[in-house]
Formats: sequence, structure tokens, C-alpha cells
Amino acid sequence: MNEIETLVKDDRVHRDVYTDPKIFALEMEQIFGRTWVYVGHESEVVNVGDFVTSFIGLQPVIVSRHTDGTIHVLHNRCGHRGAIVCNQDKGNTGKSFRCGYHGWTFRTNGELLAAPLKNGYPDCYDLAKNEFGLVPIKVANYRGFLFANAGDDSHGDCDISTHLGPMKACIDAICDRAPDGELDLSGGVQKYYLLGNWKTQIENLNDLYHPPYSHESTVNEKDGRQFVRRPGDGQGPQIIDSNLKRSIWDMIDIFAFDGGHSYCGPLNMGESVQTGDPVFDDYKSALLAKHSPERVAEILVEKFHNAIFYPNLNIQLLSNHIRVIRPIAVDRTEVRVYPVRLKGAPEEMFHAVVRYLNITHSPASLIQTDDLEMFRRIQVGMKSHGTDWVVFGRGFGQDVTEGNAARGFGTSELAMRNQYKAWRKYMCGAN
Ligand code: FES
Ligand SMILES: [Fe+2]
Repeated sequence: MNEIETLVKDDRVHRDVYTDPKIFALEMEQIFGRTWVYVGHESEVVNVGDFVTSFIGLQPVIVSRHTDGTIHVLHNRCGHRGAIVCNQDKGNTGKSFRCGYHGWTFRTNGELLAAPLKNGYPDCYDLAKNEFGLVPIKVANYRGFLFANAGDDSHGDCDISTHLGPMKACIDAICDRAPDGELDLSGGVQKYYLLGNWKTQIENLNDLYHPPYSHESTVNEKDGRQFVRRPGDGQGPQIIDSNLKRSIWDMIDIFAFDGGHSYCGPLNMGESVQTGDPVFDDYKSALLAKHSPERVAEILVEKFHNAIFYPNLNIQLLSNHIRVIRPIAVDRTEVRVYPVRLKGAPEEMFHAVVRYLNITHSPASLIQTDDLEMFRRIQVGMKSHGTDWVVFGRGFGQDVTEGNAARGFGTSELAMRNQYKAWRKYMCGAN
């Protein structure tokens, strides 16, 4: 593994980590195959027989609600000849899944239920022993967020609480915003594919350096913030303060943690658009019906802007949505975007999230489309032998240690340096 060690330095990584299929294959084994990976949300599998399909790296899995009410994560691979058993994104399968090839059926906890014409099997094939079922994977539920771990128990990263660490506060914050204390992520999904490596997307999520340049046509209009402008909206602030010659995003902090996770603090870009909004007033009343005024005031304080749960989950607290990153190949990635419905909040709030996502993160949006083009340009640029290194030096050496976090200024590249610290540990088998 020394070879891997040499690809990652404290402030830069070798371009091979984005382009070498052998490294990609090792990532699927050493990272996705061994740590906690987000696979779905319990609100997607509310009723017995409900399922969603997902991936742990390249491995197809099923998240299912069993007849006894428990949630299972199963390898989506038939015990007979290996076909995926579940070929839909979501649905209700009743009491069993049936493989489309030869009709083997499986209980919603993965046990083999029946194999057609089973008298044709020799006696040494004890189908009842369940040797041929859908193999289960460890699953953990943190406030509805379902994480699965395909690693074996000898691996040290098996406790979800330890894995999430201080990042639990971000999940708590978004759940607590719901008057009922729970989220609903069953309201639909947008998917986009990018012609780039999965790490390029995860690096981008807490990259506050790029917006004035990548998203120039949207955020640098001379009256600012084009994408939130509605009739009657005032002028928004410019991202680069031309008097101070610095980004307004340097007024917030990035916090990075063990395991490659990070979040950035709240971004208060001026007067809240919620002030005087009747929908917001209804929402606040719903919260007040459940909590004391002091607690409601606490819930409504924006604490986080964006949170990255390495390696594949992003919770964007600014606009109540999550993104799930799925590596497909060394140069191809799928991202799923789910709008969050806050249970107990006015339905109009959910509609507003969907409208906002259409503008910011749909395939034809004013924001995400720019990033997709940059990811493509990165993947092409990596083919150049001009230099081997990708540099994350912004803010390097200026990080401040605060308890179990490293803190950096908003536009620093701390989050990426931290991701590669975890990457190196995983890839060398140290996590
Ligand atoms: S491959 Fe599934 S029943 Fe044959
Ligand atoms: Fe962007």
C-alpha cells in the first residue's frame, strides 16, 4: 500500500486518484465496501413490503420493510444464478421478492422462500438452510437515515455513532426543524449523471471558493443572486466584497472531522426571505404547538449550511434537500437529489423546496449545470501529463484545532484535505 501513500500529500493529490480504474476498484473495496454508506431513508419504506433499491459502491442492494416491521438491507443478487432480483427503484413487493429469471422467491428479510420445481435438486442442496437467500448487510438507523456497512465485523469502523460523531448534530438540526421531529424523503428524486470521478462531486460540496467563477452568470449579476430574485425582492449581496477584496463566505467557517466528514456554518446573506411570509407563520405555529418558544427560537437558528457525510451523503440544510453520490466508473458518477418534507410543516414549504431545487440542482438549473461542466473539464484535464498534482493548498497551515474538529475559513480547501486524509487511511486499510 505504500504506492497509495505516495499519491496523497497533505495539500495535494496525484491525478491518478481520479483516473486509474485500479484505484477506483480499490476504493469500492476499501471505502464503500468497508464503511457506513447511506442507502435510503425509512420514510421510503413505511409499509410492510415497501422497498427501495440502492448501491453500496457498485454493489446493488435492496432496502426493504419486512413483515415484522424491521428494515433490512439485502444484497440485490439472486442466490441462484446471480441476477438482480429487484429491478425497480422503489415499490411494494408484498410478502416476497421474485427473481425474474427462474422464479425463485425470497422473503423481505432475504430468506429463500421457494424455488420452483425444487424436486429437481439433489439431496445435498438443502434449500431450507437458506444458503441461497439474499445476503443481509448490517444496517443502522439514525433518525430515519439508513446507513449500511458491507464490511465484516473485524473492521474497526462498525459503530454508526462513532462513524457519524459530531455530524449527528447536522441530522438532528434538520430533523428538529420538522414539527413532528421527522423527515419524509419519499417526495421524489432528481437524478443527474456527471462525466467525472465521484470524488470531484464530494470535493465540490463544501467548496465555497468556486461559486463566483463557476456560477458567475447566476451569482455575479450586477444586482446579485439572480436565482432567488422574485418581484419585490431587494438586491442581494455580492459574493466578493469588492471593498474588502474578500469573499463574503470567508465570514463563515468550515469544520472537518475524522472519517472525511465536514460541514460549514450558516450563511446569512441578509434579511430572511421568511419574514412576514404567511406560510412561515403557519410553520412557526406548528412548531410552537410542540415546543416552548425558547426551543422554537433555538430550532429556527440556522446552524449549518451544508454537511458532507463521507463518502456518499450530503445534507444541504440551507434549502432542505439531500444528495446521494454513487460512483459508477472512474469517470462517471450518478447523483440523486431528494427534496426534504418536514413532517408536520405546511405542504407549501415542501413545494417551495421542489421549486428551489428545479432552479438550483435540476439538470437544466442555473447552478448545478455549471458544476457538471466543470467536473467534465476536470476529468479531461487529468489526462494531461503537464503536472501530476491536484492542489488543495488554500488555507493550508492555517487550520485551527477545536476539540475533535479542524476549523478553517469559508473558502479554504480544508474539507478536501480532510477527505483525502480519510481516503488515505481507508485505502491503506487503517480505518
Ligand atoms: S437467477 Fe434468479 S431464479 Fe435463476
Ligand atoms: Fe457549484
